Amino acid sequence: MKLEGNDWFYSKEVKKHFMKPQKFLKNENEIKNFNGYGKVGNMKCGDMMEFWIKVKNDKIIDVRWKTFGCASAIASTSMLAKMLTEKKGMKIEKALTLTGTDIMKRLGGLPKIKIHCSILGDQALREAIKNYLENQKNG
Ligand code: FES
Repeated sequence: MKLEGNDWFYSKEVKKHFMKPQKFLKNENEIKNFNGYGKVGNMKCGDMMEFWIKVKNDKIIDVRWKTFGCASAIASTSMLAKMLTEKKGMKIEKALTLTGTDIMKRLGGLPKIKIHCSILGDQALREAIKNYLENQKNG
């Protein structure tokens, strides 16, 4: 499978996740149910991503996210959310090994110019895990 295309194309999977994003934060009241939070990006260009995780027994059992990023960022983060929460949640240590390439594989590729968008969710996830671990340390 070719992950980076020069063409102007979006795979079926990208379109599906963009049209129907999974685990998108719709209601701010939901935030209180999560125990890790991360935020990355640059407000000026709008490539902003916020990510919440709910960890139980070292597993990420639920997530929420929101972004000002583009269609590729939305589709990538929706796929990331699916990957983290399928099979009853992913272990933190495994989540830390996920890369933009893993997400792109599941999406069926992204146009080359859009690859950086797949990293936004991944970076916000890492921040959220860091925040969760710090919260644990500080009781
Ligand atoms: Fe900036 Fe996709 S998030 S172009």
